[in-house]
Amino acid sequence: MAPTSETKALLQKKARQRCHWLPILDKSSGVLYLSLVNQLAADIANGTLKAGDTLPPQRLLADALQITLGTVTRAYREAERRGLTEAKVGSGTRIRGQQVDLPNFHHLSKALADSIDLSLSTPIPSSLRGEQLRQILLRLSSHHAETENAIVYQPEQGNLTHRQRLAHWMNAQGLRVDAQELLLTEGGQHADYLALQTFVRPGEAVASANITYPGMIAAAKQLGLKHINVSSDAQGIRPESLDRICQQQKIRLLYLMAEYNNPSCEMMSEERRIDLVEVARRHDLLILEDGVQFVPASHRGTPFFELAPERSLYIFSVSKILDGGLRFGALRAPSPLMPKLSSALRAQCWGIAGLMGSVICEWIDMGGADQLIDWQWQEVKHRQQHLRQQFKDYDLRSHEFGFHAWLNLPEDWRASQFVEEANQRGVTLIGPEPFCVGSYPAPQSVRICVTPPRDFSIFAEGVARLKHLLEQGPSMSTALI
Ligand SMILES: Cc1ncc(COP(=O)(O)O)c(C=O)c1O
Repeated sequence: MAPTSETKALLQKKARQRCHWLPILDKSSGVLYLSLVNQLAADIANGTLKAGDTLPPQRLLADALQITLGTVTRAYREAERRGLTEAKVGSGTRIRGQQVDLPNFHHLSKALADSIDLSLSTPIPSSLRGEQLRQILLRLSSHHAETENAIVYQPEQGNLTHRQRLAHWMNAQGLRVDAQELLLTEGGQHADYLALQTFVRPGEAVASANITYPGMIAAAKQLGLKHINVSSDAQGIRPESLDRICQQQKIRLLYLMAEYNNPSCEMMSEERRIDLVEVARRHDLLILEDGVQFVPASHRGTPFFELAPERSLYIFSVSKILDGGLRFGALRAPSPLMPKLSSALRAQCWGIAGLMGSVICEWIDMGGADQLIDWQWQEVKHRQQHLRQQFKDYDLRSHEFGFHAWLNLPEDWRASQFVEEANQRGVTLIGPEPFCVGSYPAPQSVRICVTPPRDFSIFAEGVARLKHLLEQGPSMSTALI
């Protein structure tokens, strides 16, 4: 016997009492299961549902909303496909964690003792760095004026002589910056954070490619900003997508990497840059160009601060040239924006340590930075050539001088499985999740960094192991998961 309307109402009442998530469904609008998924996405975005929350059992939600079980099942499946949720046998469907951590060093603790690290974008280790630093410290120790100058409070924008020396070197590298437009920072991540903190208020929105540098994702999240993902093609962020988004909502700042996107390696043509500038001008966006991944001038396009100087900020760091522990970089900004940046820096830490500026400028002036950078570019190029050659039958995207490549895995692989099996074979990789903005579904791709191994032979061994893994395909045990 079919349940009476009274029984149905009672069932619904009880189900509603037990359901901890009760979306408001517009039953008159279009396809019901999509309406349910959209409501789910909205409730994740507005914080009603948080990472790790479980969704109500499907039958319960169906009863509570008076819709069919099939509709809920379809909606849950679609939510998982979009990367909003993950279903685990025995523990139901959970909201996926938005993984906003920087690729950090924790994952290395899970690696086998002698694992080959191809996961981090670090400079190639070389004893030359330490040797040069020791020489610089010796030179500085007898340099009275410089050391006296380094210990006093510095202007918020950074010591003027240091800015001039850095600007001089950047010009020699083809970056036409003026010392007055530079603000010294503790590296690239600091510059990213400072730019967001200064120009985007909590609740306002920044936009970037849908797959981007995780430090930017983390900074936006930490500052309570909306982070909107924009679709890309082989040349990076698509101007028409950005334009459409800007028509729908106010975006304050566009973050991008023009030479090659970290991690997915799209490279912007001159035309693409010009088109993006046009959109930025139309909607009054600031442009934050991240130039931390430093490539030779011959392989660099026109920086945005030359195309749109009035609205472009540019991030420079020595992290990929000298080394990451030095924590030294600079933010180029149009002069009218400098007072706001200086005030924000003062509120944070007054100014960066003068002593590090002295070390870096000495390093640059004595030619050590040039020596390191030239050696490293040649070595990176050699490694990239090797990787391309070995992976010529696979869908690999890379830049000739890039610190990493992006491998779109063959269809039989899931990225998580590939990372796991590579780990079992002694190669450490990071999967795609930390790079995905918002609920953008992670592609089945992995980033392969070419720089962490000290020696080419170790790098080549790592590549050989990955190639072998691809040739063999997923192991049965994981393939069945
Ligand atoms: C694109 C990009 N931006 C910024 C950073 C952070 O640079 P820094 O180490 O100077 O803070 C990195 C570091 O990997 C990076 O890849």
